[in-house]
Amino acid sequence: MAFSSQFLDELIARNDIVDVVSDYVQLTKKSGSNMFGLCPFHSEKTPSFSVSQSKQIYHCFGCGKGGSVINFIMEIENLSFPDAVAFLARRVNMQVPDDDTPAETRSRRARMLELNKDAARFFYNVLSTNEGKVAVEYINRRGISRQSVINFGLGMAPNSWTALTDAMIKKGYSPGELLDAGLIKRGKGGSYYDTFRNRLMFPVIDVRGSVIGFSGRILDDGEPKYLNSPDTLVFSKQRNLFGLNLAKRTKMNMLILVEGNVDVVALHQAGFDCAVASLGTSLTPDQARLMSRYTENIVIAYDSDGAGKKATERAIGILDKVGLNVKVLRMSGAKDPDEFIKAKGADAFRTLLERSENHIEYRLLTALGKYDIETDEGRLGYLSEATSLLSELENAIEREIYSARVAETAKISVEAVKNEVRKAYARRQAARRKQKERENMRPAISAQPKEKSLRYENVSSATAEEGVIRLLMLDPTLASLTGELKIEDFSSPFLAKLYEMVQERCADGRSMSLAILTSELPPEEASHLTEIMQKPENMQEREKAMSDYIEKIKTEKLKKISKDNLLAVQEKLKEKKGYGG
Ligand code: CTP
Ligand code: MN
Repeated sequence: MAFSSQFLDELIARNDIVDVVSDYVQLTKKSGSNMFGLCPFHSEKTPSFSVSQSKQIYHCFGCGKGGSVINFIMEIENLSFPDAVAFLARRVNMQVPDDDTPAETRSRRARMLELNKDAARFFYNVLSTNEGKVAVEYINRRGISRQSVINFGLGMAPNSWTALTDAMIKKGYSPGELLDAGLIKRGKGGSYYDTFRNRLMFPVIDVRGSVIGFSGRILDDGEPKYLNSPDTLVFSKQRNLFGLNLAKRTKMNMLILVEGNVDVVALHQAGFDCAVASLGTSLTPDQARLMSRYTENIVIAYDSDGAGKKATERAIGILDKVGLNVKVLRMSGAKDPDEFIKAKGADAFRTLLERSENHIEYRLLTALGKYDIETDEGRLGYLSEATSLLSELENAIEREIYSARVAETAKISVEAVKNEVRKAYARRQAARRKQKERENMRPAISAQPKEKSLRYENVSSATAEEGVIRLLMLDPTLASLTGELKIEDFSSPFLAKLYEMVQERCADGRSMSLAILTSELPPEEASHLTEIMQKPENMQEREKAMSDYIEKIKTEKLKKISKDNLLAVQEKLKEKKGYGG
């Protein structure tokens, strides 16, 4: 995606970073020119997140994240670069120039969405034909209302090898297009057949309202029970959720995550219009981030069987990692939300929802299930697992409350449990402090980028390379002193790339603001460049500083060359010895 630099310049100018960040972080003015607040990207108690109005950048001294207003929106809204640009453009009523996705891909994508919409319409219309009777009966048997059929656009794939193919060819689509969309498959001898046959069809609709794929549930007892569209140009199972197109408008302050399509439909129908399901895969980090764009609170209501419990444990970890508040709904007497509501009604489900346990309670109960606490051994096992769990809680009040609960369960004094939790917590804190100290003690390590893939091979050289870039950005006229310094002299590929970008800008006198430059980099690189620019530089003696940096880089390069040569000579010697016997 290449937007013109004029466009990005204007976008950044009109979206003042202080205004934008203030929508997410409470900023206060401190001494100096920066504003400070609590970092939204890691948990902290004292503000280390700074925003500079003059430089139009943010930087967290705690976690190292930083960049321009565009990087900020990418990070906090979980958007791609072009989507973040569109987000900010909308915010200030700017027109986004056409994206540079090849026109051919764009039109193929648009055409596939049209085809999917036509296919969905076809499946829906089948319901009012003779062939559709089976599906209507099935829908009725499962208690799905007429309104739900309409809301979700449900339909039926006829029990035929070519019904959809015939209808779509008639509408002007080619077999190739149907194949690409995953709606047909190649048979023997150049023939084709419909992918979905004799199934209740659930269109998968994305948050923009486009039909991107389908799930089909078999109407008899054939296999597989559920069949989903393959991944296509417009569909990815890992990155979408069934029902989110409706759930994103919910007034409930949460999303309910369930396993099946029918569960989603049943919940919406019973008034829980915030239910979504992953599409036959176990929950992915992408899906978690997608949900976090719409809510802070997730209630997991997976099936109550063993597989559902395992999936719950996994999902807790994934959702917790993206900063969502996770609760778990515990169901008994029914296999899944659909069956539960059918058996006990919507009010009973509401009670379960209200009683759903936060994930600590859930994990404590799960731990309890593993031990027989009537035996001493079992009690010890439970206590050690439970205290370790509680020591992960950052909030002292929570630690206190749950310690009391664990004490009661294990029939042991509250003091004893609290003591153990305190010790485990202290151990954790000490380990964390040590880690910090270790980083501070060894400057070579703190000089390393936080992002592993950017790590320096030669820290001394890289530190000087950073200095060259910093000086050029602060004073582009210094470019006249860098004639000797070539891209190949750089030891870090990332810094070499930056050097090239900066030199180009020096050469054609383009804007050198950190905000613009970081906007063109992926988030990790933007953060690291911002970090580089935080280091102090003596501008009084800038020329001397520049030549010192260049000399350092050259010496390090020579050292490397002679070392490589030495190695080569040694290799040769070894070879010779080998021949000699
Ligand atoms: N599944 C799938 N694709 C979907 C939905 C479900 O592959 N779009 C898979 C699930 O991962 C699970 C199986 O199909 O392994 C059954 O799904 P579930 O929701 O548990 O369905 P049931 O309740 O068994 O069936 P029903 O449709 O009758 O409610
Ligand atoms: Mn079910």
